[in-house]
Amino acid sequence: MLRDITIAPLDLPAHVDEALAVQALAFGLGPDEVAVRRQIVLRHMTYRGARALGATTAEGRLAGFVYGMPNSRTHWWSTVVEPYLRAQGNDGWLDDSFVITELHVHPRHQNRGIGRALITAITDSAAEPRSILSAIDTDSPARGLYHSLGYQDLARRVLFPSAPLPYAVMGAPLPLRRR
Ligand SMILES: CC(C)(COP(=O)(O)OP(=O)(O)OC[C@H]1O[C@@H](n2cnc3c(N)ncnc32)[C@H](O)[C@@H]1OP(=O)(O)O)[C@@H](O)C(=O)NCCC(=O)NCCS
Repeated sequence: MLRDITIAPLDLPAHVDEALAVQALAFGLGPDEVAVRRQIVLRHMTYRGARALGATTAEGRLAGFVYGMPNSRTHWWSTVVEPYLRAQGNDGWLDDSFVITELHVHPRHQNRGIGRALITAITDSAAEPRSILSAIDTDSPARGLYHSLGYQDLARRVLFPSAPLPYAVMGAPLPLRRR
């Protein structure tokens, strides 16, 4: 169990600035990128079935968050990754999937099991039989975590407009694998 950390539903639109402050530290976003992400997050949270969980300290500070939604092929993310998945025969993963849009843990609280707890909890309450996400295509802690939860590579070297680094698209059956 995580001591002094509570995992619970997060009203992300109401806490968007706090969440983006965590993301900025965890992922390395500058002020301009935060401003752009802010609009995107607020739009995402209007999508059908979009929801977020937060990890909160005993002092009431946000230590991490995750959000996602039932995937739709009409969402921008899906339209970017679809040709890469189709080339691998994996585009069926875009249907009946819960997509993890963001997962970030404050650097001070990383490597204590919070990221694992957040993504496991949000996918446990998904109605879909599987989950998909994208992560920078490198051997990062994020990729290590996703692999250990059962996510496998569905496409690699995926390029998003305006993102300098290639991404991997990963998918896992639900519920996610336990240790
Ligand atoms: C990815 C991230 C959310 C993981 O959250 P976390 O709370 O630190 O991770 P957890 O402690 O729950 O998970 C630990 C697992 O992640 C992996 N991991 C964590 N830190 C690691 C490190 N420094 N090196 C390698 N693997 C690591 C391991 O697989 C580990 O498994 P274990 O518990 O069996 O040891 C967090 O590192 C983060 O916010 N990173 C920066 C932002 C980011 O990359 N977000 C994901 C975008 S796709």
